[in-house]
Formats: sequence, C-alpha cells, structure tokens
Amino acid sequence: MLSNLVFLLPLLISLVASDNTSFTFVGFKPENLSIDSKAGITSTGLLQLTDTTKRQQMGHAFYPNPISFKKSSNGTVSSFSMTFVFGIISKYPALSGHGIAFVIAPTGGLPGALPGRYLGLFNDSNNGNATNHVLAIELDTNQSDDFADINDNHVGIDINGLESVKSVSAGYYADDNGDFRNLSLISGEQMQVWVEYDGVEKQISVTLAPLNVGKPKIPLLSLSRDLSPIIGNNMYVGFSSSTGSRLTSHYVLGWSFKMNGQAPELLLSQLPKLPTIFGGTERSKFLTIGLPVIIVSLVLVAISGVVYVIRRKRKFEELLEDWELDYGPQRFKYKDLFVATKGFREKELLGRGGFGKVYRGILPTSKIEIAVKRISHESRQGMREFVAEIVSMGRLRHKNLVPLLGYCRRKRELLLVYDYMPSGSLDKYLYYQPELTLGWSQRFGIIKGVASGLFYLHEEWEQVVVHRDVKASNVMLDGELNARLGDFGLAIFYDRGSDPQTTHVVGTVGYIAPEHTRSGKATTSTDVFAFGAFLLEVACGRRPLEPRWRTEDIILVDCVLSHWNRGEILGARDPNLGTEYVAEEVELELKLGLMCSNSEASARPSMRQVVQFLEGDVPLPELPSVGLCASGLTFPMSYPVAPMDKAFTHLSSVEESLLSGGR
Ligand SMILES: *[C@@H]1O[C@H](CO)[C@@H](O)[C@H](O)[C@H]1NC(C)=O
Ligand SMILES: *[C@@H]1O[C@H](CO)[C@@H](O)[C@H](O)[C@H]1NC(C)=O
Ligand SMILES: *[C@@H]1O[C@H](CO)[C@@H](O)[C@H](O)[C@H]1NC(C)=O
Ligand SMILES: *[C@@H]1O[C@H](CO)[C@@H](O)[C@H](O)[C@H]1NC(C)=O
Repeated sequence: MLSNLVFLLPLLISLVASDNTSFTFVGFKPENLSIDSKAGITSTGLLQLTDTTKRQQMGHAFYPNPISFKKSSNGTVSSFSMTFVFGIISKYPALSGHGIAFVIAPTGGLPGALPGRYLGLFNDSNNGNATNHVLAIELDTNQSDDFADINDNHVGIDINGLESVKSVSAGYYADDNGDFRNLSLISGEQMQVWVEYDGVEKQISVTLAPLNVGKPKIPLLSLSRDLSPIIGNNMYVGFSSSTGSRLTSHYVLGWSFKMNGQAPELLLSQLPKLPTIFGGTERSKFLTIGLPVIIVSLVLVAISGVVYVIRRKRKFEELLEDWELDYGPQRFKYKDLFVATKGFREKELLGRGGFGKVYRGILPTSKIEIAVKRISHESRQGMREFVAEIVSMGRLRHKNLVPLLGYCRRKRELLLVYDYMPSGSLDKYLYYQPELTLGWSQRFGIIKGVASGLFYLHEEWEQVVVHRDVKASNVMLDGELNARLGDFGLAIFYDRGSDPQTTHVVGTVGYIAPEHTRSGKATTSTDVFAFGAFLLEVACGRRPLEPRWRTEDIILVDCVLSHWNRGEILGARDPNLGTEYVAEEVELELKLGLMCSNSEASARPSMRQVVQFLEGDVPLPELPSVGLCASGLTFPMSYPVAPMDKAFTHLSSVEESLLSGGR
C-alpha cells in the first residue's frame, strides 16, 4: 500500500502540475520568453514587440513551454485565465501601427505570417483556415475593411482568421453605474486585459480597463464557444504585434496565466515604466540620460579647454602697442622671460629693489645669461617716453655700463632685461664684514671705470643722460671685477644744450644733491654729487649715511671733512684696506669726493674733470683750507635723516615709481 503510494506520488504531482500551469511576469527577463528577432526585452524589463527602427514589421513573443489545455488528447479544453498589461505608444496617432494580439497557437511562433494588417498572425493563404488552430484576442488599432473591422480602436476574438468572430469598440463598463467608457488603445496609457475561458460553460470573455481602475465586473466582450476543436492539447501562448510605421511601439509590461484557476494578480506598482517620450526605452534612456550627460561633458571639456587657452594666453599676455613696433628687436617675449627665470622662481631671485625684484635667467634659445628686473606699475602714463628711453639705453654701449638688452611690457608690469653680472653689485664687497674685501688697486680701478661710464653718459653720447641713481649698489662687477654702472631705471635724457625738465625728486637719500631737492632738477651736476658720495663710500667702506651710528659719524662727508680739517684725511679710509694702498691715490679720491660733495653745484667738477683728476692728467687743485663757508665750500649738514630703518630709502612719487628701483 505504502509502496504503491510512493510509486504513484510523482505521477500525481506531474498530473497536477501540468493541469495547473501558472506563471507570472512583472516585467520580463530575456530568458523568460522565446522571442523572434524583431521583438526585444528592454533593460528595464519591458517586452517590446515592435521597435521603431523599421517599417512594416512584426514581433512575436511566446512562453517557452507548451501548455496542456486538455486532460486528454481527445478531451475538452479546461478553464484558463490570463491577464496582461500593455501600452501602445504612437508619435502620430493617425499613423499608428496595427495592434497587439494575445495568441494561443500550436507552435511557439507563427511561421509564414505577415506583418501589417495581418497582425503577424496569418497570411493571405492560410487566413481563415480551420487547420490553423489559432485563437487570438486582437487589440486592433487599424481599420481593415478586408477583415470587416468595425473601427480603428477595437477588441476582437479571432478564431483561425483575422475576421473577428466578435468585436467591440475598446472601452469598459464602469462598475458603479454600468456606463460604457471609451478607451483609446493608442493613447499611450497603460491598460490591462483579462482573457478567461470557462471550460464548463464554454464561454470566453475579454475585459479591458485602464490600469488604475481594476477589473470591471462586466466583461467587454463575451463569446459562447467550445474551444475544444480549436485548441489542441499542447499549445503555446504568447503575443503578436505588427506595425506599419516606424512611429509606433507596442509594449507588454506584465503577464500572468493559470490553467484551471484565476490568473495571479499582477503587482502593478512593480511593473516597469513605459517610456514617457516616443522612441523606445533604450533610445529614451539615451535621450534622457545619455545625451544630456554627453552634452554636459562635451560642454565641460570645451569650457575647460577654453579656460586653459585663456589662462595660458593671459599668463603670457603682453602689452604691445603700435608705436612699439619700431622697437621690435629690443622687445622680449614674456613667455621667454618666464621660461628663462623658471617662472620667476624665488630660487632665481638675485635681489630686491624698492620697486621690483631682479631674477637670474637663461634665455631659452640663445642660452644667454640675463638678469630680469620686474617693475610693477599702475599707470601707463609716460610709458611711451619711458620705453623710448629704455630703447635708447639699449643703444648705450660702454665697457663700464651694464648692457640693457631690452624690455617687455605687460599689464601693470614692466620687465627690463640686462646682461647678467656674475659677481653682483659692489656694495656686497664694501660694507659689514664683506666676504671678499677689495684691495686698493681694485677699488681705484672700479672708481675710474664708473667715472668713465658716467662721463660717457654725460658728454660722449648723443644725448645727455643723467643717471640719477649712482651708488655702490648700482655698480655691478663683471667676471673680472670690472665696474659696470647699471640700473638705468631712473635715468633721464635730454638734448644737449636744453634745460632739463623739472621732475620729481628721485634717487637715494645720501646721494641727492641739495639743489636737486630744492629745484627738482636732475642735472649732470647732481650726478657728480652722487658720484662724490660714491667715491667716499668706496674709499671709506661705509654708506654715506649710517643712521644708527654715533651722531658725529652718521654722515660720511662730515666724517671725512673732520679728518681733513685735522690734517689727517687718510684716517678716514676703510680700515679693511690694511697697509696695501697707495696713499696719494687714497688722498686724491677722498679729496675729489669732498669736491664733488660740495653743496654748491657750480663748485663741483664736471665728469670730464673728474676723469682727468683720476687719470692724473690734471693735478687736483688744493682744497681751500678750513673756514669752508668763507671759501665757498659749503657742505650740507642737514640731510633729511628722519628715523629710518634703512638709509637706502627711495624718495619717489607714485607716478615715477615705475622709473625707479635699485638693486
Ligand atoms: C524569468 O527569468 C528570471 C531570470 O532568469 C527568473 O529568475 C524568473 O524566475 C523567470 N520568471 C518566470 C516566471 O519564469
Ligand atoms: C475522439 O473524438 C472523435 C471525434 O471528435 C470521436 O470520434 C472519438 O470517439 C473520440 N474518442 C474518444 C476516446 O473520446
Ligand atoms: C502561410 O502560412 C502557412 C502556415 O504557416 C504556410 O505554410 C504558408 O507557406 C504561408 N503562405 C505564404 C504565401 O506565405
Ligand atoms: C465611444 O466610441 C464610439 C465609437 O468610436 C463613439 O461612437 C462614441 O460616441 C464614443 N463615446 C464617447 C462617450 O466618447
């Protein structure tokens, strides 16, 4: 008994199982259905029966396994029930496709069927043949007179042919009052269809409703018909659809089926979403997400490209005006200077002046070593004249002048390019425990060199050039410790014989002649005054002003003068000189320094005379003995020695800030 039961159990189970085939799809996976090439399952799980890439096409999708509709091969068709949710999306309703049909067919496909009005179900020759064994519930959106369609929006029951056995206009009977409500199949709205067959009553009923309404109690369409001759024992269930235009897509969102019972309800909230715009999900995803992302990325790439180009352009931007074109050879490209100084790196910084920093650099192509002075300026006032002067300076050629190679102009910035002087400026070798003390012969050579350079500026060149900032820190030493007067940042030019224009007083405290402060006129004579201070500076190894020293020592000229008054002018010399010096030369230099420092401009020698004295061509006239004022030698005793951190503070106006600076 027990062994019999154990033996029978699998058979019973298989019988029950085959009689009660049931499935539910809430969205589809490609494995769930057997579909032909025109149909597809989107990534979101929609069954797309027709796509929009081809005209005149059809699509089929079938549940992959056959379903046993009868208990025996000669029996009657059992009850079954199914429901599905569909949506037809059409860009132009007038050009809609032909519709969707739910199909029960002997094979998992419909070989030989035609698209278009044949709905992918039949063809010319087999339409209407009893041997087809096809039952279809059509949702027809096209009126075909050939098949006696009632309109272009109807639901019909088709048995073996496209001429419906029964059809009605699409709609449903409202549960509340039984009113008929029209539905448009191609509205793009999701709708649910129920197809039920009562195997006992031999009645087939079809119900349609919008998605949010629920299954109406009164079916849309009922037909009393025994399906036993039509439906075989093992049949396939699925969908067919056809379209005549590219502009319509047919979707099935969910589907459930059950033999001998009520089809499982579909969880509507979990159905995949219909695309909201025409074009199919894949494409719409591309349009709604892909395309914007691509466009935004492209725009970003374009913007960052433009920003890069603009930045780069701005980084190397220069000011170049028409009048500068003549100066072409002396203009440098900012980019070259930028590269030469490695982007104006701190490491390349040679010095810091009042109005700019000086950087060392190597020109990219010629490999020439240069010094670049960056001067910031706000106004463009006077720029034209100034650049003209710079260019003139570029033509100044003298062995005791630092060659100015050229310039570059940018917004708010002027760059002057000089030859690089490897030994730096003279002041380094003079004050405060210098690393290298210059011997007397070197100092005297430097003095003669600077005198010669200044003489060239004053008298030998085509124009009179007033340097305006002669001082030890502006004297550069080249590789052989030859002096080169540099930094023409303050220089002014005027034509020989004309009167120099009044300008703002610029220069360095301690080197500015008293009449310059009064009249504002820079002349060759004011340069001589500064040169005098420079002479004493070199001979004594200290700055003209040392505000922190003892009162009687603050002013260098006073110091030297008091030594001279005591009859021992040599006592003022730099103690670092030791004993290796030529007393006559030191004395000459100190006396000449005093002469040049005379507060009366007329009493100062010219640079021509200075050169003659230094070369020994002309003997130095005796300085008047004590009682200086009586002899006309009046030395300024009142420099503006305000409490200053640095004696080397520039007196300069904003306007001329661009013209100034000392290393
Ligand atoms: C559909 O396919 C998926 C993935 O293969 C599977 O998990 C699921 O059970 C299938 N659904 C039905 C109803 O067969
Ligand atoms: C099967 O059906 C045919 C015709 O419909 C009938 O002649 C035959 O007797 C039936 N056989 C059985 C076993 O019911
Ligand atoms: C029509 O379909 C039938 C059944 O699939 C097929 O045998 C026949 O060849 C088809 N006829 C044409 C003209 O395609
Ligand atoms: C419903 O559709 C039918 C057929 O198209 C039409 O005759 C009828 O007027 C429509 N009813 C309403 C309420 O729109």
